[in-house]
Amino acid sequence: MSTTQEIIEKLDLKPHPEGGFFRETYRSKGEIAAAGLNSNYYSSRNYSTCIYFLLTSEKFSAFHRIKQDEIWHFYDGATIELHIISESGVLDSIKIGRDIFNGQTPQVIVPGGSWFAAEVSSKDSHSLVGCTVAPGFDFSDFELADRTRLISEFPQHEDLIRKFTR
Ligand code: GUN
Repeated sequence: MSTTQEIIEKLDLKPHPEGGFFRETYRSKGEIAAAGLNSNYYSSRNYSTCIYFLLTSEKFSAFHRIKQDEIWHFYDGATIELHIISESGVLDSIKIGRDIFNGQTPQVIVPGGSWFAAEVSSKDSHSLVGCTVAPGFDFSDFELADRTRLISEFPQHEDLIRKFTR
């Protein structure tokens, strides 16, 4: 099997602010004007974008949120555990992987506006997934969680928030 570093180089992945490595693989040419989007958006967005995202067991993906729904697709490597806190505070922890007969799921939808974080389930490994969003991704729709603020909003999830914020 290829090493994590070989995959990062082959796919030309760069560090992501949430943790892990990514490269955008698709950005639709078409755009939707702000007037055609809901009031969460203040400027136009591409119809859709897609990235490769590689997470290593050394570094988790910290709690963050975006405005649009995000679809995760499992490609390769170890299982990922994704933790989603909904806008109303309901926690859902999902194992993303190929073993559908043992509680894993290859495709997961993260609802827009929810907070989410992820970790690779095995030591010394990595997971390669794809993440697709529509409207297309824009860093102005991306927010990394502030630990204190998120704990005060969802005190019932304090331990998890402490583990997955920096
Ligand atoms: N492009 C840059 N960062 C991201 C991300 O976190 N998700 C998606 N879908 N696209 C991105």
